[in-house]
Amino acid sequence: MPTVLVTGANRGLGLEFVRQYAAAGWTVHAGVREPASAAELAALAASHGSVTVHRLDVADDASIRALADALAGTPIDVLLNNAGVFGPKPGADRDLRQQFGTLDRAVLESVWRVNAWAPLAMAEAFVEQVAASAQRKIATISSSIGSIGESRAKGEGGLYAYRMSKSAVNVAMASLATDLAPRGIRIGIYCPGWVRTAMGGPRAPLTPEASIAGLRARIEELDEASSGRFLRWDGSPVPW
Ligand SMILES: NC(=O)c1ccc[n+]([C@@H]2O[C@H](COP(=O)([O-])OP(=O)(O)OC[C@H]3O[C@@H](n4cnc5c(N)ncnc54)[C@H](OP(=O)(O)O)[C@@H]3O)[C@@H](O)[C@H]2O)c1
Repeated sequence: MPTVLVTGANRGLGLEFVRQYAAAGWTVHAGVREPASAAELAALAASHGSVTVHRLDVADDASIRALADALAGTPIDVLLNNAGVFGPKPGADRDLRQQFGTLDRAVLESVWRVNAWAPLAMAEAFVEQVAASAQRKIATISSSIGSIGESRAKGEGGLYAYRMSKSAVNVAMASLATDLAPRGIRIGIYCPGWVRTAMGGPRAPLTPEASIAGLRARIEELDEASSGRFLRWDGSPVPW
């Protein structure tokens, strides 16, 4: 059975990825910042022998390196960059640190570190394990909020830290599709839709179950032609 490594696997979309891949019989390596407080994931690992929980803080290069060393020689069919942070929420929390006029450089940097830099750092650290696998795929969960075309079309501004970090990861992953094509590694860039998680909030229309079922289908069909494209969970294209 294939192997997947999921980041941010303790809750939200990451936990649902683990649940669905484990149910499909995959070997799952689940990376979490704090294994001791990942109770739902621990329960999944207890009921599925194919799920292993690892400590992984994607904002910390040493943590990424430590897991890459621990999994050296383990082929990874799908490296799944899911971990993400939204940053201060202007609506819900009245926190304006990613709104124009009250921008906070530390917020921009910390959000960028997780959303933009970490997927690239993960790819660098795990490229040999991915190259050694049968499927050879790297999937990154981005957001249509990082789409310049969609932001312009909808007349949406603000959310500078989150929006810029997702645009940045898109261009990084598109470049990676070119750089890793000679090794037969395919890169998927996906928007999961607006989903009911801690990040998406209770008003989101999509369930994690539906979003992840769609994304798993996208990852399944990822090939040379779709590598480096930006797609929604349902397969429709997102403009850059
Ligand atoms: N939900 C939506 O509507 C939506 C829409 C578009 C895109 N997305 C994207 O989908 C992905 C998953 O989002 P979600 O809705 O599941 O969010 P979530 O419920 O807030 O979960 C975020 C996950 O990322 C992890 N994480 C954050 N920083 C990390 C770090 N430094 N190292 C390792 N893990 C870290 C969190 O771990 P902790 O528990 O330790 O904080 C948590 O497991 C994100 O990339 C997000 O940007 C979500």
